[in-house]
Amino acid sequence: MRRSLFTTPRIAASDITPPERYLSRRALLAGGVGLAAAHTLGAGMQSAFAETGDALAALRNEAFSVTERPTSFEDVSSYNNFYEFGTGKNDPARYAVKLRTRPWSVTVSGAAEITGTYTLEDMLKPHPLEERVYRLRCVEAWSMVIPWIGFPLGDLLKRFKPTSKAKYVIFKTLKDMGQMRGQREPVLDWPYTEGLRMDEAMHPLALLAVGMYGRVLPNQDGAPLRLVVPWKYGFKSIKSIVSIQFADRAPRTAWAIAAPEEYGFYANVNPAVDHPRWSQASERRIGDGLFAQRHPTLPFNGYASDVASLYSGMDLRRNF
Ligand code: MTE
Repeated sequence: MRRSLFTTPRIAASDITPPERYLSRRALLAGGVGLAAAHTLGAGMQSAFAETGDALAALRNEAFSVTERPTSFEDVSSYNNFYEFGTGKNDPARYAVKLRTRPWSVTVSGAAEITGTYTLEDMLKPHPLEERVYRLRCVEAWSMVIPWIGFPLGDLLKRFKPTSKAKYVIFKTLKDMGQMRGQREPVLDWPYTEGLRMDEAMHPLALLAVGMYGRVLPNQDGAPLRLVVPWKYGFKSIKSIVSIQFADRAPRTAWAIAAPEEYGFYANVNPAVDHPRWSQASERRIGDGLFAQRHPTLPFNGYASDVASLYSGMDLRRNF
């Protein structure tokens, strides 16, 4: 089992990939400079973030990592849910190559002192990257173990100085049916929208990922920037983010709009509350083979000692 979250990570700041190493000079020389930010958060970036598939070094943060063996890269990058590219598990790997992830920008709006549109590079620059091995538990009752590379979501959000009206943070994925063929079908209410309560978003386990398995994220896994919220069902972990909004109300999220009886706002992994159409008590680990023994699903996906207190006093059957 993992160590407590609140032990000091055995990782020195100097061990983590410094921004000048993951912001690739090669891309700069090739002219791959990001969009100009309407406002800059810092000194303004000169070079572009490394390309999809490029090596991305980051030291593992053991205190925040599970010790289970990671699922193979092949499985994690070929068995995906990314409905913008189709509803089949292999569709994202096949069709997400069309997604242009450089240049990329993210619009930050709503209840914060600092808002505007920022290049990917502006968003990433001050944040040292680290590797964290998290379990991802999909609502479809399968799971994977993935070594993500990223940085805490809260560290980014703090830079925008959210005001006291910011009770929730809302994320949106790109909407562009030219690049995302799945958006031609009304499978979900596009753009894919997700949200977190502010205290959930600030929790140190909530990660913004830019890479996995030592490389820049493949498009099908949510390049160039995706959320990973390990104690919640996988659908909260929104991919290819272009908008972050601070709000006083919870958003209507893509899956809750599609099937409100089945997918709630909280979506905390909970083996005691079944999905209306199937049990959530156990999960199939991708890569184990169809006939392998299922794993028991753990409350909050195994992160209960770290996050259960966020929900004290709440009825988790009603707030599913
Ligand atoms: N984000 C967007 N934009 N579109 C999606 O369809 N699917 C979600 C989540 N993020 C999804 C998304 C679901 S249901 C899961 S289980 C995870 O992404 C899967 O992440 P993975 O394909 O990297 O394993």
